[in-house]
Amino acid sequence: MVVMGDMIDVPVELGDRSYLVAVGHGARSRVASMLPSGAKRVAIVTQEGIPSEYLPHLDGYAVTHHVIGNGEAHKSLSTIEKLCSEFAQAGLTRADVVVGVGGGMVTDVAGFAAASYHRGIAVVHVATTLLAMIDAAIGGKTGVNIAEGKNLVGAFWQPHGVACEMDALATLPEREMRCGLGEMAKYHFIAREDFTALPLVDRVARCAEIKANIVSADEREGGQRALLNYGHTLAHALEIATDFSIAHGEAVAVGVLYASHLAHRMGRIDSARVDAHYEVVHGLYGLRHPLPSGISPEQLIVDMGRDKKAIDSLTFVLDSAEGLEVVSGVSEPHIREALADLTLRLE
Ligand code: GLY
Repeated sequence: MVVMGDMIDVPVELGDRSYLVAVGHGARSRVASMLPSGAKRVAIVTQEGIPSEYLPHLDGYAVTHHVIGNGEAHKSLSTIEKLCSEFAQAGLTRADVVVGVGGGMVTDVAGFAAASYHRGIAVVHVATTLLAMIDAAIGGKTGVNIAEGKNLVGAFWQPHGVACEMDALATLPEREMRCGLGEMAKYHFIAREDFTALPLVDRVARCAEIKANIVSADEREGGQRALLNYGHTLAHALEIATDFSIAHGEAVAVGVLYASHLAHRMGRIDSARVDAHYEVVHGLYGLRHPLPSGISPEQLIVDMGRDKKAIDSLTFVLDSAEGLEVVSGVSEPHIREALADLTLRLE
């Protein structure tokens, strides 16, 4: 990582597709330098409620604005179709560029629209939520939901650059901040590192760096990138079971605790390590989200079986003395016991 005054640049090394993640107050001013040479038109994709001050000013380009709706229901193929129609109406060519400005939903949707339009045009992201800054905007995973599952249709499509606009965190709603902290707690276990003493800008940059290094080593999730899904198997099932009334980062915080119980039930970690998970999630990060009520273990098991990590059996990222690992073939009795442990502990 390179520190220049108040701005921290984190490289994502991917050969001739390498790019920078710029973290800092005013990072949106870096967007112009991230656009591909030859671009004449810029389609800014943003969402209702994102303050216009975070939209980059791009003199010398023909700029159009495209607003997508709030909520997971809008993270859909029909939104992609609408955006692509609007890009065509704006005359975007293969040489032009999409700029996504917002949180993870915007970067996922804008990224997938860019990956699809003309079979792929450039995209740059301005991340305005903590979750997008440390996870969603980095690494090229783009996509939308279908009725059968979250993010089931998408593409790997790396951005040309990511600007993490730290100004936006000052006014980020508390719930969205907690969602980002849920993902940050996840990095605590991936890197086995406590960032909580660092200033926020340094924490964001360090998490971006951990993610950038993992993506550089395993862009297509053939191995270690799957570790970024720590806590996500239960999290995705909870999101589906609650019809997304639990937010992603909240669900990840619960999912990380669940993963510790499951690892314990499988004899991979001791009870002190389970307690350490609670100390981080509840103590250091203050993420005391309850287990949503009224959801049957049967429903969660079905939804966890649909997780993209699962090839032919229930698959989780689980802790061990050596660190996190992807574990397939997890038995239903262990899954049920760990759900009971979690329920008891969160009561
Ligand atoms: N959000 C997990 C990943 O990018 O791989």
